[in-house]
Amino acid sequence: YEPKTPQYSTGDPTSFAYVSARERWPIIITQGIDDVHRSTWASNDEETAREGKAVVAELAKLKYELQHDRELTPIPDDGEADVAEYNKELEAMGNTKWHSVPWLFSECYLYRRISSIFKQTQKWKSYDLFARQKMSTFRSSRPAVLELAARYKDIVSQLATEHTLQGAKTQTELEDAEEILFIEMAEICLWGNATDLSLLTSLSYEDIQKLQGSEARKASEKNIVVNDLDKAFKALTAAQKSGKSERRVDIVLDNAGFELFVDLVLAGYLLAAGLATTIVLHPKSIPWFVSDVLPQDFVELIQALADPQTFYTTQSDDDKHAGRTPAPLSDKEVADLKFLFEHWSRIHAEGQLVLRPNTFWTAGGSFWRLPKTEPGLFEDLKESELVIFKGDLNYRKLTADAAWPATTPFAEAIGPLGHGSGVHVLALRTCKADVVVGLPEGEDERIKATEGGGGDSGARKWAWSGKWAVVQLSDGKA
Ligand code: F6P
Ligand code: MG
Repeated sequence: YEPKTPQYSTGDPTSFAYVSARERWPIIITQGIDDVHRSTWASNDEETAREGKAVVAELAKLKYELQHDRELTPIPDDGEADVAEYNKELEAMGNTKWHSVPWLFSECYLYRRISSIFKQTQKWKSYDLFARQKMSTFRSSRPAVLELAARYKDIVSQLATEHTLQGAKTQTELEDAEEILFIEMAEICLWGNATDLSLLTSLSYEDIQKLQGSEARKASEKNIVVNDLDKAFKALTAAQKSGKSERRVDIVLDNAGFELFVDLVLAGYLLAAGLATTIVLHPKSIPWFVSDVLPQDFVELIQALADPQTFYTTQSDDDKHAGRTPAPLSDKEVADLKFLFEHWSRIHAEGQLVLRPNTFWTAGGSFWRLPKTEPGLFEDLKESELVIFKGDLNYRKLTADAAWPATTPFAEAIGPLGHGSGVHVLALRTCKADVVVGLPEGEDERIKATEGGGGDSGARKWAWSGKWAVVQLSDGKA
């Protein structure tokens, strides 16, 4: 259940792993220390403050070990079952120093170690050291959120009251409109924060059609190196036409804040258009890769939308610092956001939108292990019409973060989740790491030759910055 192809390592100077371990991770820990420090200061409870200081000391120790290339030490028993798995793997690896260790495992281990520091306390057990960052980035995406909320209300209301879209008259026109919107929303979902919202200008049926040729859409589409969204849409409509009454779409979530917001936009649209009857969201169970969604992040997002005026006009710490007072929302903006709140809380309450955490998502290994280590979850995913894996880390886990030739077929690189698995996998991924598969012959070389692409340095630098993306489907058939 592991590929033979070697994995990327923090010891390889041509890999983004090298820079990550030496430059990015210490910064991430430092930001965590600052956060805990702030909360410790703000606390009036003696025991909380005492433990907070101890947490800071432990985080500083971890940072020291990382920066001084010490061994990765066993994770202390914090009462959770996954510790044994992590430690077993660590032992099997033998000599594991921070600066020459498989990237995927060591980065997961880093977040699990951080989590164990909190789990061993009394007062900080469920504390999320990244929560502040997550909410503040969501707040700062206000213009995009407002724009999308207005479009969403428009589209979902049309579907609910007129049972059609943008004035489409025939079934074919309706399907065309549905497909274009599906692709738009999935691409917005893909680009997350870096979204050009002119993508979703969809007023009349004619406008919608023109959109396919629109400048904005083309501009970002040319950076999607492989795009299987049309095939994904076909899979959903085929299921719909087969008359199946229960049709599930799963989203293995990535980041909280704006990205979760756009995931919910896609989820709500799939339900409203009848392209799915249930959406299952898979969040993480511990603070993970800084911004990944925890169940609490979902709750907080919904709460923010329940009273958007308060959410957007309460001064954040940064606002206070800069002496800024956020402008109030207009009545229409409040109404648009409340529409989202009502729709999303309703589908959640009615069981059409479900959150299903599993510690598998925060294990140290790749998704190649799924059938073996979490057979229940594997069986569960087979029930789904489409399992959407969001973001870079999920892609690395799908492909085992191995140094595949870029032309390796996607279904092959995802191993047991590929051919014959019965799982319909759709990866929506902006590239922020070395691994890339499923490219046409010559494409990797072509992009390497572009500015900042890495040239003949031996590094695939183009895939590090999030500027490029891949959208890849594996239908799980034999
Ligand atoms: O490449 C930088 C990085 O932190 C990776 O370590 C990780 O895979 C990824 O970014 C996280 O990004 P995302 O939130 O898209 O998974
Ligand atoms: Mg993430």
